[in-house]
Amino acid sequence: MWAVSSESAKSGRLWAQGLARRGRRGKRVSEFFKVAKVSELPPGGKQLVEVDDILVALFNVNGEFFAIEDVCTHDGGPLAEGELEGDEIECPRHGARFNVCTGAVLCMPAIEPVECYEVKIEEDDILVSVDY
Ligand code: FES
Repeated sequence: MWAVSSESAKSGRLWAQGLARRGRRGKRVSEFFKVAKVSELPPGGKQLVEVDDILVALFNVNGEFFAIEDVCTHDGGPLAEGELEGDEIECPRHGARFNVCTGAVLCMPAIEPVECYEVKIEEDDILVSVDY
C-alpha cells in the first residue's frame, strides 16, 4: 500500500487544477467572470469592477466594451475615476492619457501602456477575463 504525504496530495491537487484550466493542447483556457450588466453601462459609461482580486476599469465606447487594469502606469492612479472622452481615459492624478481599447499610453507623464483584458458579452452580462 502506498502512503501519500499531505505535501504530495497538495501538489497533486494543484496539478489537477492546472489541467482543468488548460485546453487539450496544453493551451491555457481563459476564465471569464460576470462583472456587470450591458443594460447598466450605457455608451460613454465607465465602471470599476473587481475580477479575481484585480481592480478593473470597464468602459462602454460606442456600444463596445473594453477593460483595462485600474492602475495608472505612472504612479498607480485610479483610472476609473478619470475623465472618459471617446476612447481615451485621463488619469485623475497627473493627467496621463490611455486608449481604453488598446491600453496604449497617449501622453506623459506615463510612458508604459496599461494592461488590457478580454471582454465578452453573453445576453445582458458583461464578462471579463484577467488571464494572460
Ligand atoms: S498617477 Fe497617473 S498620471 Fe501620475
